[in-house]
Amino acid sequence: MLLIDENLKQEELFKRNIEFIKVDSVIGSGYENDVAKLAIEDGVAYRAARKNMQIHSAIILKIDNKFSGFFTFQVNHEVGEFCLLQSAMSKGNEDKNIYSQMVNEIIKQNTFGYPMIMTVSTKHPLECPKVFEKIGFKTYLDLSGYAYMVYGTLDQVRMKRLAHATMTNAWTTTRSDWLKMKKEWNEKIEEAGKKYNIQNPKFASRDGCWQGSNGMSNVVLAKHSLKDGEVKHDKGKSFNGNASVLDPVVCDVIIRFFMPKNGKRVYNPFGGGVQLGFVAASYGYEYKASEIRQNQCDVNNKICQDLNSATWIKSNSSKYKPEGKFDLIFSCPPYYQVEEYLDYDGKSPDGELNNIPTYEQFRDTLFSGYKHGIEALNENCFFVVMTGDSRNKDGAYYGCEAEHELFFRDQGLHIYNKIVYLECEFTRLAHAKVTLNYRKFPKREQKILVFFKGDSDKIKDLYPKIGRL
Ligand SMILES: C[S@@+](CC[C@H](N)C(=O)[O-])C[C@H]1O[C@@H](n2cnc3c(N)ncnc32)[C@H](O)[C@@H]1O
Repeated sequence: MLLIDENLKQEELFKRNIEFIKVDSVIGSGYENDVAKLAIEDGVAYRAARKNMQIHSAIILKIDNKFSGFFTFQVNHEVGEFCLLQSAMSKGNEDKNIYSQMVNEIIKQNTFGYPMIMTVSTKHPLECPKVFEKIGFKTYLDLSGYAYMVYGTLDQVRMKRLAHATMTNAWTTTRSDWLKMKKEWNEKIEEAGKKYNIQNPKFASRDGCWQGSNGMSNVVLAKHSLKDGEVKHDKGKSFNGNASVLDPVVCDVIIRFFMPKNGKRVYNPFGGGVQLGFVAASYGYEYKASEIRQNQCDVNNKICQDLNSATWIKSNSSKYKPEGKFDLIFSCPPYYQVEEYLDYDGKSPDGELNNIPTYEQFRDTLFSGYKHGIEALNENCFFVVMTGDSRNKDGAYYGCEAEHELFFRDQGLHIYNKIVYLECEFTRLAHAKVTLNYRKFPKREQKILVFFKGDSDKIKDLYPKIGRL
């Protein structure tokens, strides 16, 4: 595509008669053929030739009274967003200034204050990030040569960003945008921890809980060196860096997707780390968690003291009944005997799930905690559990995930989503060298099971729309 020389004198442009005409729908405007022809010639804008796209509005560009370009757009009042669709300028007329004026004409049409969204190619000379950035658009996602941009705030398109990171029921948590969002949350948690003098706030109170000190992750990640002829093994941060603290991006997705429009309160029957409360309260929700260890409650309550309302209550959730009703429950309970949870005295408190001698008693105590949660959950709300199976002494899985599904179904909830949370394979590869001899494939996933209490027909009305992706 040829571009008019950037240095083309403004006077020359002024000499030309530039006109923008707004049409409510391309179809019926008299410009159907012009738009279709140019869309096909342009290639990138080819979809604007389709009838189902021509139902949308457009700005038609005329230079010296001749059709010279278009920009289609759609206002979606149901979602509350303004979508910029396809654009093109006829050959020989391509000019960034005129193109930008055309975009500004569209911005003028947005009298509703909606976020305006546009996907542009990093390779296109006009419809590209640089041109849109100059006008005031911000990129919220860079993906495979495309920039997803918004004229508005990044918060207004957060759900779209999360939807792109998840999209199907297999969540690959090693992708770049996932890691970027995780880093952003972790920095906020670190900052709050620093302010209140909490060491290592992401893992506070969870030192060494993962598989004990000889866990495979620690063995693989430890650094070995020679000092004065002696071999030193330094486990460093990896020692507790492998504790199963909840991924804050998962918290973000669950809260954004499964909190109803009018929802206010989140409950977690097995509190654990600070992540879920931190994210929920950062979004202005009230968060309550039952957590059996005093040390975990204390650090979390300290870290979150500046946020709206996040509280961890020292209690045994199999007996504790939370006060009032909740609009979302999300929990990541212990996976049977995978970790140890110790309090200030270095012991597991009485009633702590991983301290229970048999799997069957563990399961029944866990499910009692869920039962109190289900009773406190409002109608037409979600109960989400992140869980994982573990193996017994014969190497067989307990079947805990399957028992979750049956339990919630028997309690009258819908089994609504079964999501696979896929982790990095690094330490699993080291495991595999041993375990494959026993025909055991190392576990690289956890499950996020989403249950729904109520009438699932109501979900589309009660939960926020995602809009265009
Ligand atoms: C697997 S951890 C939570 C993991 C979570 N992913 C996190 O971010 O920490 C589960 C938590 O449940 C707590 N817990 C164990 N038994 C409990 C019980 N009966 N009542 C309440 N909390 C309990 C443990 O102390 C632990 O902090």
